[in-house]
Amino acid sequence: MIGIAIDGPGGAGKSTIAKTLAKRLGFVYVDTGAIYRTVGLYMSRIGVAPEDAAGIEQNIGGVHLGIRYENGEQRMLLDGEDVSDKIRTPLISKYASCVSAVPAVRDFLFVTQRELAKKNDVIMDGRDIGTVILPDAEVKIFLTASAQARSKRRFIELREKGEDVTLEEVLADMRQRDHDDETRAAAPLKQAEDAILVDTSELTLEQSIAAVEAVIRPALEG
Ligand code: DC
Repeated sequence: MIGIAIDGPGGAGKSTIAKTLAKRLGFVYVDTGAIYRTVGLYMSRIGVAPEDAAGIEQNIGGVHLGIRYENGEQRMLLDGEDVSDKIRTPLISKYASCVSAVPAVRDFLFVTQRELAKKNDVIMDGRDIGTVILPDAEVKIFLTASAQARSKRRFIELREKGEDVTLEEVLADMRQRDHDDETRAAAPLKQAEDAILVDTSELTLEQSIAAVEAVIRPALEG
């Protein structure tokens, strides 16, 4: 099986690019952030606070998650319920960030992620795919963009959804999440030594997809 790892900070375009290229290449797209979000949703439902690392660790064994693919779209299940839409809220973003810093959660999800890559050709996106989950991936990409560029894109997305936010708020939130992801003790966000850096700050989405495809295609053929 072939594994392609795409890591990088939030808002760099990882999921859109990975999803598009997975379709083109006939690979399964695995959004690992959605898996952490589902754990976050579970903790919020049972009333464990996001900051309560001990409570999260105690309850991780109670999480029954499932991943299903419908027309190439990844759907997340929690206790059999499709929660794919419920995990896309600011509260669950906060929970996901907190649960992902707990080593017991990362250990629990390690096997799930590895199994997916064992059974399928995958494009997997996340924060530690090239460094921890698939250290032997055929292709590793670190996809990034400046905090300004990423915030601007997120701002436009949120405004389109009708959310009342300012660019300054989105930028501050982005910087905080970058800081949390980069400085946590468990699997911090960092570029794998053998990953190729793609910076999309000055690129449109189409150009970003083409830049990533230009890295992947020769690596698969070579
Ligand atoms: O990519 P995202 O925003 O859906 O990720 C949600 C959170 O999960 C984010 O705070 C980073 C964390 N995460 C992680 O620690 N490791 C991954 N492989 C994927 C996401």
